[in-house]
Parts: sequence; structure tokens; C-alpha cells
Amino acid sequence: MEAIRNVAIAGASGALGSPIFQALLNSGHFNLTVLTRHSSEAQFPYSVKIIRVDYSSISELTQALTGQDAVVSVLTTSAMETQIPLIEAAVDAGVRRFLPSEFCANIGNPKAASLPVYHSKVQLHDVIRQKADENPNFTYSLIRNGPFLDWSLAFGFFLNLKGGETSLYDGGDRPFSTTTLATIGQAVVEVLRNLHETKNRAVLIQDLITTQNEMLAVARSVKPEIIWTPKNVSTAEMETMAQQKYASGSMDLVASVGFFCRSVFAEGYGGEFKKVDNDLLGIPLMSKADLEALIKSAL
Ligand SMILES: NC(=O)c1ccc[n+]([C@@H]2O[C@H](COP(=O)([O-])OP(=O)(O)OC[C@H]3O[C@@H](n4cnc5c(N)ncnc54)[C@H](OP(=O)(O)O)[C@@H]3O)[C@@H](O)[C@H]2O)c1
Repeated sequence: MEAIRNVAIAGASGALGSPIFQALLNSGHFNLTVLTRHSSEAQFPYSVKIIRVDYSSISELTQALTGQDAVVSVLTTSAMETQIPLIEAAVDAGVRRFLPSEFCANIGNPKAASLPVYHSKVQLHDVIRQKADENPNFTYSLIRNGPFLDWSLAFGFFLNLKGGETSLYDGGDRPFSTTTLATIGQAVVEVLRNLHETKNRAVLIQDLITTQNEMLAVARSVKPEIIWTPKNVSTAEMETMAQQKYASGSMDLVASVGFFCRSVFAEGYGGEFKKVDNDLLGIPLMSKADLEALIKSAL
């Protein structure tokens, strides 16, 4: 397969989009174009080509994507359907590889895939698979990384940073795969450089497998002056509450947390990746010392 040179990135100003944008830029392998909404106030370096788009206009998107070899979508969670016209336009423009805004739990696991928060991502798989079946020149990769390690630590998702009561999901001993934003950026670069091996499939990566109790032990050793009081939280009960909130029309981040926790920490939901693509992509596993450094900086 001919190497990818021209890459368009959508959502480059976001929490994950920014580090992916930086990784693509810093790699020096690609000519980058940023797609951004007409209404966006995001700022990008002057050296990068910016195209403002209406994500509902296939003709506008096709024009924007003409000449692009690959599209990396890092659009926000609530805009998954926005990617359907983007995929249509990518096919029309002759784009060869599309990375949709996946970057989540292992939703190849049927239990995780059944959680409503992932439905829009799963529905997109059907669209993208069909397009790839119909157009052999059009291919895709779905990057799955588990919870963002540094981002989730900073938001207190794994551990209450201030001390006091801290939630341990299903006891806190369930191993899960987790990945930093920078590593996901590296994975995107390497997927685009390993086209054949990553064609039309999920690509799983992780920095490490850990548990909440392991993180808590590190936190206690780093900051002995902070007192944590663990509180066991059932992810089954969290899911029930999340289902109720969704049924009542409330689908915001707070309502979704129960589903996220279920997919990461619950038994049988695939939170601990069994087979990863780290070796293929040249992504080393993180050491205990690295994890300690991350937790220390978050605290
Ligand atoms: N695994 C995890 O722990 C985890 C955590 C969070 C997110 N994620 C996933 O990571 C991906 C990116 O999420 P994120 O939190 O980084 O996104 P984000 O920061 O909320 O938004 C990314 C970009 O999407 C564009 N955007 C925002 N609203 C839009 C709309 N209504 N229509 C079209 N574009 C819109 C904006 O770009 P412009 O302003 O340039 O147009 C924005 O900068 C998603 O797939 C999400 O589900 C995973």
C-alpha cells in the first residue's frame, strides 16, 4: 500500500485531538490539514492548513478532503453521527484510510458494546464496514485504548485527588488497560505508517494494566499526609442508575459515567485487554516508576 502523506484531522482542538494533532505534526511524516467547524474558536499554528467545514454538507466535506490520503476524526462524543457525512465524503474524495473517533473501551466485547453510551460508536462501525466492503480503496482502523490514563487521573476518575472518600469500583482490584493521550497520538501516527497490518480492524493499545488499588497504594506512598477512605461502589448499580437517567432523556457526561465505569471495571466487559498491538506499533509498556511519576504529578 502506498504510504500516507496527506492527512486531514477533524476535532484537532479537543482534549484528545490536540495531542494527536501534535503527534502527527511532530512525526514529520505527514502534510496536515485541520478540519474545524465554521463556528469554532479553536486556534492552530499558522503553518498548518485550516479548512472550515459544515459537517452536514457532503459536497463541502468532499471538496475539503480532495487530495487527502487519510482522515483522523477526533470529534467529540456527542457528535458521532456527524461522522457519517464525513465518511461519505471521504469515500467520494478517494481517501484511503479513515480513523473514526473511537478511542474508547474495548467495545469489541459484546457486553461493553451493549452499553448505551457506546451505541453511536457501534452504529458507526456498520456504516464504515459497509463503505469499506463496497469500496476496496477505502479502509479504516478503530483505535481502542481504555480510559485515558493522565486525563482520567487529572479528573479524579481513578482516585479522589484531594483525599477523603474515594470510590473503588467493584472492589478496586479489577485489572484494566489504560493509555495516556500522548501514547494514543503515537498510535495514530503508527497506524498510518502500518497500513496493511491495521487495515479494516480494531487496533488495541495500552500503556499498562493496573488496578485502582494499585494506584491508591502508589498515591499513599507518594503523599502519606493525605488520608483516603475507600468506598466500594458497585458498577452494576451504577449501570442501573445510568440506564434510568438515559431513559429519562438525560444523556450527559454525569449520566454516562456509570456506563464508562461498567466498561472499564466490571467483570467480563473486556476492560483488561488480552491482545494488544503495542509491539506492532512500537509502543513500549509503561513501567511502575512511570505510573508513580504520573500519579505524583496528578496529586
Ligand atoms: N477513553 C477515554 O477515557 C475517553 C475520554 C474522553 C473522550 N474519549 C473519546 O475521545 C474522542 C474525542 O473526545 P474529546 O473529549 O477529546 O472531544 P472534545 O474535546 O469534547 O471535542 C473535540 C472536538 O470536536 C469538535 N466538536 C465539538 N462539538 C462538535 C459538534 N457538535 N459537531 C462537530 N464537531 C464538534 C471540536 O473541534 P473544532 O472546534 O475544531 O470544530 C472539538 O475541539 C471521542 O471519541 C470520545 O468518545 C475517550
